[in-house]
Amino acid sequence: MKNKPSQPKAANHKAMKKTAKKSTALSSRAVAAQVILQVLDEGKSLSSLIPDVQACLKTQDLPLLQEICFGVCRVLPRLEQIIQQLVDKPLKGKTRIVHCLLLVGLYQLLYMRIPPHAAVDEVVNATKALKSDSFRGLVNGVLRRFLREQESILAQVDKHWQTLHPEWLVNKLKKAYPNWRDIIHANNQKPPMWLRVNTQKNSRETYRTLLEESAISADTAFHPQALRLTSPIAVEKLPHFSQGAVTVQDLSAQWAAILLEPQNDEWILDACAAPGGKTTHILELAPQAKVIALDIEAHRLKRVEENLTRLNQQARVVCGDATQPDEWLAKIGQSAVQFDRILLDAPCSATGVIRRHPDIKWLRQETDIAPLVVLQERILKALWAKLKPNGILLYATCSVLPEENSEQIRRFLFTQPDAQLLPLPFRDEQNNDKSAVGFQFIAQEKGGDGFYYAKLRKRA
Ligand SMILES: C[S@@+](CC[C@H](N)C(=O)[O-])C[C@H]1O[C@@H](n2cnc3c(N)ncnc32)[C@H](O)[C@@H]1O
Repeated sequence: MKNKPSQPKAANHKAMKKTAKKSTALSSRAVAAQVILQVLDEGKSLSSLIPDVQACLKTQDLPLLQEICFGVCRVLPRLEQIIQQLVDKPLKGKTRIVHCLLLVGLYQLLYMRIPPHAAVDEVVNATKALKSDSFRGLVNGVLRRFLREQESILAQVDKHWQTLHPEWLVNKLKKAYPNWRDIIHANNQKPPMWLRVNTQKNSRETYRTLLEESAISADTAFHPQALRLTSPIAVEKLPHFSQGAVTVQDLSAQWAAILLEPQNDEWILDACAAPGGKTTHILELAPQAKVIALDIEAHRLKRVEENLTRLNQQARVVCGDATQPDEWLAKIGQSAVQFDRILLDAPCSATGVIRRHPDIKWLRQETDIAPLVVLQERILKALWAKLKPNGILLYATCSVLPEENSEQIRRFLFTQPDAQLLPLPFRDEQNNDKSAVGFQFIAQEKGGDGFYYAKLRKRA
């Protein structure tokens, strides 16, 4: 595992697509090994890699590929320790792909309900698709030895509780939270699937009945539009999904538009909007609002357009830098506009959504945090200038690190005398700190992700 993410190599990516194209159900293990290699050694995210190979795989192979890739990232340190016990010389350089294939094999043997000998055979056969036939014997030997000696190997590996997180992150969590072990435990679980019911179309209860009629069971939550599915399913199976009846969105993220309280006819900026989960929620609550959905990444804005189309909503989708509002406002001929409300769902460490994106644990570095804090501060300051007197700015992140959240807002309030912190309708059972700034959600096994909110009003 390299520490520094480097730029992806185009050649590798092409090779992966080529393997994926030829893949049958048997060689989805080969594709998984290549995806994992690119996460660990080239710093690419699963969410960017999987859609690329998805088109090349058989539809029925996709859930297997996802389960393996996300699963390996979730429990990586445990698998690495097992490999250390089984392989004398580390597999480096060109043989790293074989190392990744061993990760795939061990994950299947430990965490998936595939008969062990069939699983081993399929992983061994994948050496051919990876042009690593000469390692067939090694892969076979290592996996079969693991099966024989599993008990003693696991006794050794599991002697102490494993956080399955990088040390720097564990240290930060320890420093910030007395209940840091609960956060780590929740991060290591598979996340529940949450739906946001579009109440322009159905009440939550009506939609829940529609789900029941399709034999899909769901629970409600404190949030007025949220439903948690008992088991995750493909969106195509959700009643009226393509007509915009529901959106898949985590419970904690569903609070953003509610807290923003958008009103029809207001000018509203969703400043870091892609892929648009919160833009569409704003428009569900205030269909006549004049919404600008801004993001710096043009390719991510395509997803915003798709989501708006599915929900039959209108917003001005703009590619631009939130630290430079005058530039893009001039570009769209709205230089004079002042916003009634701004949602700033800021770029962040994403440490609150590790259970959904376990690759974050290996992609994110401690040194990434300080530049993110600076960027968040620059965006906050630049957008504050574009807020009307009495206007509302909702600051949000999917981070659990105080430096990106409460400390960021505390500093902003200190330097910006016209900013007033507004109360939020949540109570922190764990924390009685009356001086807390904003509200920090932490991931809950059956609840929402880690998320932070602070609501600010600009004094007139
Ligand atoms: C947390 S994601 C936003 C998720 C989105 N609000 C949603 O609910 O679907 C952060 C976004 O900030 C964007 N971003 C990062 N730096 C930016 C900048 N300087 N200006 C505008 N957008 C930026 C990223 O491209 C990314 O899409």
